[in-house]
Amino acid sequence: MGRAFLILLVVAGLLGFWLGRSLPVAGPAGTPDYLRLVYSPLHFKPAIETARDADCLACHGEVLEDRVRARSPSGRDSRTARAWYQQLSTYQGEQDTFHRRHLVTSLARQLMRLSCNTCHQGHDPRDQAPGTSATGPAQGDAAFTLRKGVNPETICLKCHGQMNWPVMGLPAAWPESKRKFNDDCLGCHATIRTRRHQVSYLKPDAIEAAAKGKGDLCFGCHGGRAWYRLNYPYPRHAWPGMPEKTPAWASGRPTESEARFRLPEPSEKK
Ligand code: HEC
Ligand code: HEC
Ligand code: HEC
Ligand code: HEC
Ligand code: HEC
Repeated sequence: MGRAFLILLVVAGLLGFWLGRSLPVAGPAGTPDYLRLVYSPLHFKPAIETARDADCLACHGEVLEDRVRARSPSGRDSRTARAWYQQLSTYQGEQDTFHRRHLVTSLARQLMRLSCNTCHQGHDPRDQAPGTSATGPAQGDAAFTLRKGVNPETICLKCHGQMNWPVMGLPAAWPESKRKFNDDCLGCHATIRTRRHQVSYLKPDAIEAAAKGKGDLCFGCHGGRAWYRLNYPYPRHAWPGMPEKTPAWASGRPTESEARFRLPEPSEKK
């Protein structure tokens, strides 16, 4: 009984080995092998860090082509539906997909320059949990978020956190206090924290130009579409006239943008 089982095991092992070796690397004539695509080097570091959008879109064209339904299954017309995060005066056009709203619709093109790898930093095709395989991320890997393909705290929170209005000396949250300030952030921010948005995924000049007299434009990314109850700990760049003493709330804040996005200092530009 024991020996028969052992022989069976050896035979099964040999069979598995032989099958594994002789499986076609490509699928039926002309179709690429699915596993090869899944394990494309572009899904991993370091290749993903330098990937261009076109490299990803060669396989993932659906990300920009798919559109939402014109009608929900219960008959609701999507053109007249507006969610809580679509209430700002900057919201334009028909309902669209998540990827298109960040990459190709009008506000996205006007203010941002996001790429696939701004958000996507690679994933483990085997399992979206750390520490479950030899090839996966280690258990303590803080850059890895369980069951999520993108790290929300380091990416989404940048533009979808709460407005940190108490540190600005505002009497109340922006929706209640904005009339006092003519619905304009630049009344204060023309001279406070003026070195901002010098990152590869934003269009800093276009943002400033579009925001004159239009608080919603700034507020959109700084509390107006907040998916989180916390705020993002923005870097605190020095600005002309900055008080010498760092306030307690800002101690421990970086003074520069994240390295992978940082644009050269104006003085370093030619
Ligand atoms: C050679 C084709 C190919 C290229 C190039 C490619 N992918 Fe993929 N990708 C795939 C396939 C196949 C899958 C698995 C799809 C499935 O199982 O539904 C996949 C899955 C994914 C997933 C989903 C992972 C999951 O399981 O949640 C993401 C995110 C992704 N790719 C992003 C990217 C990004 C970003 C790039 C460019 C840096 C890229 N891919 C380049 C073929 C490719
Ligand atoms: C604003 C951030 C962001 C950008 C920019 C972005 N993605 Fe994604 N993408 C996400 C998130 C978040 C998900 C869902 C991840 C999850 O399920 O954990 C996702 C999911 C995906 C998936 C899985 C299938 C799906 O549709 O859910 C693919 C494939 C993908 N992205 C490819 C791309 C490609 C290609 C680009 C560039 C053209 C891109 N993404 C740009 C955030 C982004
Ligand atoms: C650089 C800034 C930025 C980052 C980073 C960012 N978003 Fe956005 N997001 C925006 C802007 C701007 C809009 C509004 C687009 C519009 O109104 O056309 C938006 C809209 C959305 C919407 C609503 C789309 C709709 O149909 O109205 C969702 C959901 C969303 N973001 C989720 C996320 C998630 C999840 C992430 C992280 C993976 C993320 N965002 C990262 C700027 C950003
Ligand atoms: C009454 C003047 C005033 C108004 C109005 C104002 N701010 Fe501020 N803001 C400040 C001050 C002061 C700081 C903190 C400066 C410092 O770092 O010491 C600040 C800081 C910030 C920060 C960085 C917060 C952090 O945690 O590092 C952001 C982002 C910001 N403001 C966005 C806005 C936006 C968007 C609006 C309009 C919706 C706005 N502010 C309106 C005065 C103002
Ligand atoms: C498309 C989204 C978006 C819009 C619109 C936007 N911001 Fe920002 N803002 C960001 C992001 C992302 C950062 C963090 C960039 C970084 O890491 O350096 C930031 C950083 C800041 C900071 C911190 C500056 C520092 O010391 O580094 C201030 C202040 C600020 N924004 C104010 C504003 C004001 C005022 C407006 C309108 C004129 C505005 N933002 C419009 C996304 C946006």
